[in-house]
Amino acid sequence: MKKTEFSTVVYEYDSLDELSKEEVFLVEKAKESAMNAYAPYSKFQVGVSVLLSNNKVVNGNNQENAAYPSGLCAERVAIFYANAKYPDVAVKAIAICAFTNTEFVKTPIPPCGGCRQSLLETEMRYHTPIKVILAGSEKIFIINSVKDLLPLNFNSDML
Ligand code: THU
Repeated sequence: MKKTEFSTVVYEYDSLDELSKEEVFLVEKAKESAMNAYAPYSKFQVGVSVLLSNNKVVNGNNQENAAYPSGLCAERVAIFYANAKYPDVAVKAIAICAFTNTEFVKTPIPPCGGCRQSLLETEMRYHTPIKVILAGSEKIFIINSVKDLLPLNFNSDML
């Protein structure tokens, strides 16, 4: 028997002042985007901004539906839109934040499993690590690659 351990490095910050200008800009765009979320059922509004390697920024937010599973998370709305609009351009970073009943959530909100899988596909597609910025009002986490969020992942190498 061999035991294998996976580790994830998370950089933790107490304030936006500790982030670069570019990172702060992405968080601000994600917050703006959360305001446009369609989340009448959960009242949990998620906003995302995606930085591309051509320096364009694409935003997204969660879109719910009365038939609940038909809705889509903010991360996938944003990343699919980025890939649809700029199919030849790598994604460099993604910022994610959430509001619940219009209040900026204190703790960083990590992407769900399905979104991690979709983000990983984009990371592998363009052979470029995507920096993940999870912004809460009292704490910010930065993870340097989606791979770190999805150890032992299923991917196209296995097909
Ligand atoms: N949601 C996201 O947009 N991203 C996530 O990673 C987790 C959850 C959305 C889905 C749903 O509209 C609401 O948050 C509550 O789950």
